[in-house]
Amino acid sequence: MRELSLNVLDIAQNSISAGASLVTLSVCEDTANDWLTLTIADNGRGMTPEQLDRVRDPFYTTRTTRKVGMGIPLFRMAAEMAGGGLTIESVVGVGTTVTATFCLSHIDRMPLGDMAGTVSALIRLNPQLDFLYRHEVDGNVFELDTRALREVLEDVPLCEPDVMEWINGTLAEGLLPLNSQA
Ligand SMILES: Nc1ncnc2c1ncn2[C@@H]1O[C@H](COP(=O)(O)OP(=O)(O)OP(=O)(O)O)[C@@H](O)[C@H]1O
Ligand SMILES: [Mg+2]
Repeated sequence: MRELSLNVLDIAQNSISAGASLVTLSVCEDTANDWLTLTIADNGRGMTPEQLDRVRDPFYTTRTTRKVGMGIPLFRMAAEMAGGGLTIESVVGVGTTVTATFCLSHIDRMPLGDMAGTVSALIRLNPQLDFLYRHEVDGNVFELDTRALREVLEDVPLCEPDVMEWINGTLAEGLLPLNSQA
């Protein structure tokens, strides 16, 4: 994976598989402290401390099609390569939060990539779920919350082409002024 947004997509997929109804994706760029923090939080089924221990071992996975789960190990590797790290907090029945940190200017930090495309794809493919996307650059914040959108739309599904077009436009316009260097 050459773009962190693809790791985010992969980790969000874990949240969806865990039965989450709300997935929060957050990007925080802090140029003064030279940090990038990516957080994927969900209200899915969570993991027991034993499961959590085994997730750190790439040979642990609950999927049956193949034996090795790579989503979390790859994300961890991307963070550690860039002078950061990855933490997972999880509570059964409450949810899971995965946080990855990166040194922004580190030569081995992968580019953030197309976060708008990632968020858009997640919404389009999972219109029954809610997503909160928060992107902060040096204190300037852009937020997109499908729960708020849903209230305005009433019965119109989020995946309707007109709605998706609006979402894509809002993402593009909202992220532009943040002038992301990442
Ligand atoms: N958000 C989450 N909620 C509950 N369990 C999770 C969550 N994220 C990961 N897990 C558990 O950790 C395991 C490992 O996750 P990881 O993404 O590394 O691999 P995978 O999803 O099994 O396979 P891959 O990502 O390679 O398709 C998952 O199979 C799942 O059991
Ligand atoms: Mg996975």
